[in-house]
Amino acid sequence: MKTATSAPPEASAAHAEHQPEIMSATRPNPRRALLLENIHPRAADRLRGAGLEVETCRGSLTELELKDRLAGVSVLGVRSKTQVTEEVVEAASDLEVVGAFCIGTNQIDLDACLARGIPVFNAPFSNTRSVVELALGQIIVLLRNVLEKSSLLHRGEWRKSSGSAREVRGKRLGIVGYGKIGAQLSILAEALGMDVRFYDVEEKLALGNAEPCRTLDELLATSDVVSVHVDGRADNRNLFGAREFAAMKDDSVFINLSRGFVVDLEALREALESGKLRSAAVDVFPREPKQDGSGFESPLQGLDNVLLTPHIGGSTEEAQENIGNFVPDKLLNYLEMGTTSLAVNFPNLQLPELRGAHRLLHIHRNVPGILAQINQVLAEQEMNVRGQYLKTTDEVGYVITDVGRDYDEGVVQALRQIPETIRVRVLY
Ligand code: NAI
Repeated sequence: MKTATSAPPEASAAHAEHQPEIMSATRPNPRRALLLENIHPRAADRLRGAGLEVETCRGSLTELELKDRLAGVSVLGVRSKTQVTEEVVEAASDLEVVGAFCIGTNQIDLDACLARGIPVFNAPFSNTRSVVELALGQIIVLLRNVLEKSSLLHRGEWRKSSGSAREVRGKRLGIVGYGKIGAQLSILAEALGMDVRFYDVEEKLALGNAEPCRTLDELLATSDVVSVHVDGRADNRNLFGAREFAAMKDDSVFINLSRGFVVDLEALREALESGKLRSAAVDVFPREPKQDGSGFESPLQGLDNVLLTPHIGGSTEEAQENIGNFVPDKLLNYLEMGTTSLAVNFPNLQLPELRGAHRLLHIHRNVPGILAQINQVLAEQEMNVRGQYLKTTDEVGYVITDVGRDYDEGVVQALRQIPETIRVRVLY
């Protein structure tokens, strides 16, 4: 595969109320990347290795600073703090692709990026293993009453009795939400000898010996440990309240490493204080401080049988390193091949590597008839089409055409003139 530096210049659409400032068809050579918020050094190494000039910054930038720093930048990398607003995107005329070096993408105006033909990539499963390991640790610690024994010892009280301490082997783990994290937890918990049941709103392939429950109530009534791994859809607000805790098995353990708003914490406190539940571990909260060192309050504070952690489920060195490898690969696959698979805001296309040909990328607003117009341009220019790929979302269409003769600036100009064109790129 050729590196990004050898690609011909990018041309942007002439049309468009959104981006009159990207009329210039030139882009910096080599491409420049700006990585903010102390992204793992693997990312900069990987991008430099592919020929990009990389500038890094430890903190996030304000909107104004970001607009200023994005001049001449093709690749922007952020974590959760930098706000990539519509205004930033509008001003960043050289920006081609954005990497969110984290899971969430709420900090990025995805629609504004889409409207400018800028794909956004994130790292949806780079910290899955980290969350699963913490969940397993919590299950063991809570079933053994380690937390209470440790608290007593800190207060000078030696209480060695095995009491109700239990092994995890043979206990039933009920997983609510059998997605990436839930399914991996299922495998590892089973390796520890747990009997795994799960409940998901979608049909899921049961891994190992795990068995699905038909209803949430069935899972709650039969599980020694309930671990919640649902996604952040709005319907999941207060998925767990007084009714659900009452439906759980007596003396069972509750774990939430998913989203804070999924659990009514007052109801959880009552279930713990009343002795209905043995203990709980909570890593995510309805309101979380934005900065380290900030104050924090929760109804669960002061309970010896609750393990509180400050949203660290996915925060490990390994997860950061995984993200530092994963996201640059997606950015480079897009820059070098046009591949958009796993882009969060863009038509997803996995493209084959191309040899001995040129690849034309056409991004346009999704209205009928664009593909026909593209092919008419190619026919008029007597281009020999070797392969063509099309993927659309409601708003945007993405057409990739591999052509078998030298690329001609006339073709690019003609493609740019097609109404509703957002961006045209030429690779190889
Ligand atoms: P995912 O999207 O792969 O899986 C979520 C699953 O939950 C899906 O299978 C979905 O069908 C299911 N689901 C949604 N609502 C449901 C409901 N009401 N009842 C039953 N099933 C339901 O997500 P992934 O990657 O497994 O992450 C799970 C959660 O963990 C997310 O909320 C994510 O934000 C959170 N997370 C937390 C971290 C932390 O640091 N504590 C780190 C990483 C993720």
